[in-house]
Amino acid sequence: MKIPEYIKNLKPYVPGRPIEEIQKQYKLKTIHKIASNENPHGPSPKAVEAMMKFTSNLNRYPDIGAIDLRDKLSKKFNVKIENIAVGNGSEGIMANILRSFLSNGDEMISSKATFIGFQVLAKGRANKYIEVPMLENEYKFDLNSIVKYINEKTKIIYLCNPNNPTGTIFTKKEFEEFIANVPKHVLIIMDEAYFEYAENNPEYPDSMKYKFDNVITLRTFSKIYGIAGARIGYGFGNEELIETIMKVKLPFEPGNLAQAGAIGALDDEEFINKSKKANKNGYEFFIKELEKISSIKSFKIIPSSANFIMLDLGTHERVNHINESLLKEGVIIRPLIAFGLPHCIRITMGLEMGLEEENKAFIYNFKKFI
Ligand SMILES: Cc1ncc(COP(=O)(O)O)c(C=O)c1O
Repeated sequence: MKIPEYIKNLKPYVPGRPIEEIQKQYKLKTIHKIASNENPHGPSPKAVEAMMKFTSNLNRYPDIGAIDLRDKLSKKFNVKIENIAVGNGSEGIMANILRSFLSNGDEMISSKATFIGFQVLAKGRANKYIEVPMLENEYKFDLNSIVKYINEKTKIIYLCNPNNPTGTIFTKKEFEEFIANVPKHVLIIMDEAYFEYAENNPEYPDSMKYKFDNVITLRTFSKIYGIAGARIGYGFGNEELIETIMKVKLPFEPGNLAQAGAIGALDDEEFINKSKKANKNGYEFFIKELEKISSIKSFKIIPSSANFIMLDLGTHERVNHINESLLKEGVIIRPLIAFGLPHCIRITMGLEMGLEEENKAFIYNFKKFI
């Protein structure tokens, strides 16, 4: 079987290490997994309740138009159903966008050190994919530089705001200047998986508010809503774009259990507010403690607008040392070699209460081993 070169060379998505694997390898009872930007408070209780109620219908195929969920989203965000797509996670929608809009010879552009899921999707195509360096020392998208790479073949630009893994954002002003310089034949994917953590920042551009015809906004139920395992995400865009994506998706994605969970989760304001508050507290705790440590040991703390924080430790060796030492103590973090940042690590805000003091476990061990 002849496999295309770009598929042969494709490096697969590397997820955070699973809890069970580390438990077995190091013979540990308690594991703190702060590696995958999941909600440490578990799934939204209202999502779980809705899914439990739904289970007796699991013999049925899902509604291919996901009308109830899209209706709920349309009311929440005050847009028409025709402007809303859903899929198997926001990554599933990303895959459908690439499938829908790329023809032979079309090109894609994004930044270096952005979401690895998009990198894998883009590199898994025969199309040219340009990765523009980040703004030096700021670890953020260099939108001015991205514009310079646009040509008549450019079809898709992927932006991630807040960016995973750096946690940085580009501002309203930067986004508005950028969009004014992007020709209309270029489709912009705005990945806002961490939207809820950033939305209160007045500098943060909520891309949905602009309603540009060549922008698709992607959001997810995997992060703050806490149902990453259900695989469901949603997107907003103009009617023609959305109709195309919904036509191309697998007919029965997302599953009906996931749709039920998403509908339940959208009602769970209490859980969302609790999660936001805990994230803010966790972030403040991290910054305070990390600043104390960095006054003695040199490393960089990158200010974050999401539910994780990136540290630049300077060398890959130091990252390996910290990662291995923390794993032995049952703390799973994310070394960022696969993201193209071998000298950096990413830590998700963990639980802050009770026996499972994940944030404290990280700080305690980081201080010990750095
Ligand atoms: C920026 C970004 N986009 C998308 C995703 C994937 O989201 P989903 O679970 O909805 O596919 C992630 C998950 O880590 C992410 O960090």
